[in-house]
Amino acid sequence: MLKEIAMKAVFFDQNGGPEVLGYGEVSTPIPKKGEALIKVKACALNHLDLWLRKRPITFKGPHIPGSDVAGVVEEVNGKSKFRPGDEVIINPAIPCGTCQPCKNNQPCELVTIFGAKTQGGYAEYVTVPIPQVYAKPKNASFAEAAAFPLTFLTAWHMLVGRANVKKGETVFVWGASGGLGSAGIQIAKNRGARVIAAARSKEAGEKIKAMGVDRTVNYTEEDAVQQVKNYTQGKGVDIVFDSVGAKTWNASLAMLRPHGKLVYAGTTSGDMVTFDASDVYYYQQSILGARMGTKKEFEMVLKLFSQGKLKPMVDKVFPLHRAREAQQCLEEGKQMGKVVLEM
Ligand SMILES: NC(=O)c1ccc[n+]([C@@H]2O[C@H](COP(=O)([O-])OP(=O)(O)OC[C@H]3O[C@@H](n4cnc5c(N)ncnc54)[C@H](OP(=O)(O)O)[C@@H]3O)[C@@H](O)[C@H]2O)c1
Ligand SMILES: [Zn+2]
Repeated sequence: MLKEIAMKAVFFDQNGGPEVLGYGEVSTPIPKKGEALIKVKACALNHLDLWLRKRPITFKGPHIPGSDVAGVVEEVNGKSKFRPGDEVIINPAIPCGTCQPCKNNQPCELVTIFGAKTQGGYAEYVTVPIPQVYAKPKNASFAEAAAFPLTFLTAWHMLVGRANVKKGETVFVWGASGGLGSAGIQIAKNRGARVIAAARSKEAGEKIKAMGVDRTVNYTEEDAVQQVKNYTQGKGVDIVFDSVGAKTWNASLAMLRPHGKLVYAGTTSGDMVTFDASDVYYYQQSILGARMGTKKEFEMVLKLFSQGKLKPMVDKVFPLHRAREAQQCLEEGKQMGKVVLEM
């Protein structure tokens, strides 16, 4: 038992820039009945960590962010197939289990996001409900495994759960250098789709091509809509995968074929959009929002990861005490893939 032992963690108790993140000692959490105590090896960053830091505080006392954890089981308080020493990852979508969507195998309406409503993984230890714990794929490093859960679950839910991507369809991916976009590319390819991906530069285009995309569009130099029209002989794409938001919204709709689907899970560049709503009904298109995914979806996408068919893209790794720099790096948006903290 690690009772009364202190651990190192990064936390904040006021809103602001990265400077509000403190680093120091807090009590090591003690697993309640039905929980596991995990020794964190790596924790990937998400924009959620930045939103939490910037938006009004809703929790009592210092909050430890971090939703994407890979680590080693330290202790299990309840029935579990896991034993101390097992290498694991955490599914950060904790369902309520009782709402109607939960009963219908849909993403939980009242989902608790690990690290947002609970204490998270910018720490040496975390506690988590046992059903959220899964074996870490053996072929992945701790950093890669930490870079997997939230983005791959969401990208899977976007493409498979919401847009029902099919073999032979064409998918356009914005934000391809990012966590969600790079996951979206791999999942679309795995489902047999053709993928066109947006790249911010020639260098980014080369890295994106290595993920097996069929065509990259350098959106800073080329007109993405025109390039898509050329590539699809004027038809447009079946699905646009977007989380950039305001900046790409109209281009996304303009490159969509009649009956096409725009699926999105974020609005990084801004929430407010203006568009011609008549086109959407005239061409019978669908705009689909997506948020995380179900337990079953997590298990499906994790299976592909374990089989080596998906590979999270890790760009920068920082030690825990440099979490401020890590968040700044994510905020600047210059990374190619995920930013990860290692303990
Ligand atoms: N709903 C959910 O459950 C869920 C889950 C995960 C993430 N999200 C949200 O999805 C968004 C993306 O997450 P992420 O983890 O992929 O972030 P990320 O790793 O920072 O990637 C975002 C990508 O979007 C592009 N981008 C960002 N700002 C842009 C701008 N102003 N104009 C044009 N392109 C821009 C960049 O791609 P280029 O380099 O190609 O320009 C960047 O690589 C975030 O808003 C996040 O909060 C939501
Ligand atoms: Zn629920």
